[in-house]
Amino acid sequence: MSNKHHIPEHVAIIMDGNGRWAKQHGKERYEGHIAGVESVRRAVESAAKYGVKWLTLYAFSTENWGRPTAEVNAIMELFCKSVVAESPSLIKQGVRVQIIGEKTHFSDSVLKMIDQIEQTTAEGKTLTLVLAFNYSSRRELMLATQAICERVAKGELRSEEVNEEVITNHLMTHSMPDPDLIVRTSGECRLSNFLLWQASYAEFYFPEVLWPDFDDAEFKKALDVYASRERRYGLVIEDKEAKC
Ligand code: IPE
Ligand code: IPE
Ligand code: MG
Repeated sequence: MSNKHHIPEHVAIIMDGNGRWAKQHGKERYEGHIAGVESVRRAVESAAKYGVKWLTLYAFSTENWGRPTAEVNAIMELFCKSVVAESPSLIKQGVRVQIIGEKTHFSDSVLKMIDQIEQTTAEGKTLTLVLAFNYSSRRELMLATQAICERVAKGELRSEEVNEEVITNHLMTHSMPDPDLIVRTSGECRLSNFLLWQASYAEFYFPEVLWPDFDDAEFKKALDVYASRERRYGLVIEDKEAKC
């Protein structure tokens, strides 16, 4: 049994390869990130077109602060510029934007843009675009654990009541379904601290294409790969055709 006619409800993408793309084209790394914004625009359009309801994009990890200052600054500036430039089109397409990640280390102008994009797109019904920005899955789990411990200490919760649902509800992704499909571009096969809890039963796909070259045809290919997978969730799936 395959997922043939199933479109994943939630696609999450680790957008990797901007630097290598820039190198291939004799450009600076920041130019790779600029080219990557085009791919974000295309991916949003593709997700909406194919009926994906949630699209999570890993835009900046907590570890990425360790990159050269000039590159980090270029990424922050690009984020602010993109919010201004893309807002009208996102609103028009019915895209709701939500940011996951810690609101630390950011400049006031970036914080303002995060607020602005979340507020102006809040009514979007077509697709939710989740941007993981200053995100670390381990820190997300650590913060959730601290919050749960506090509730137990206050007597609001008993320790034996801490179940999977309680943990899920304390994550930054608490209002979101788990990803069905996780794509990482550029051929790297690792999660790099992305959605560790949420990825428990996700399907994985690692295309070679660098993120700036990821287009509608690549998005479709990812959906086709997903459709060919059999999700078993630890169960035995009976072969219906063989039984007939
Ligand atoms: C992904 O592209 C973008 C971010 C991590 C911000 P990279 O910048 O990691 O590109 P490569 O991996 O160096 O090619
Ligand atoms: C992961 O890519 C983070 C983002 C795509 C935002 P990296 O390029 O930072 O990951 P590593 O260093 O190759 O694991
Ligand atoms: Mg990379």
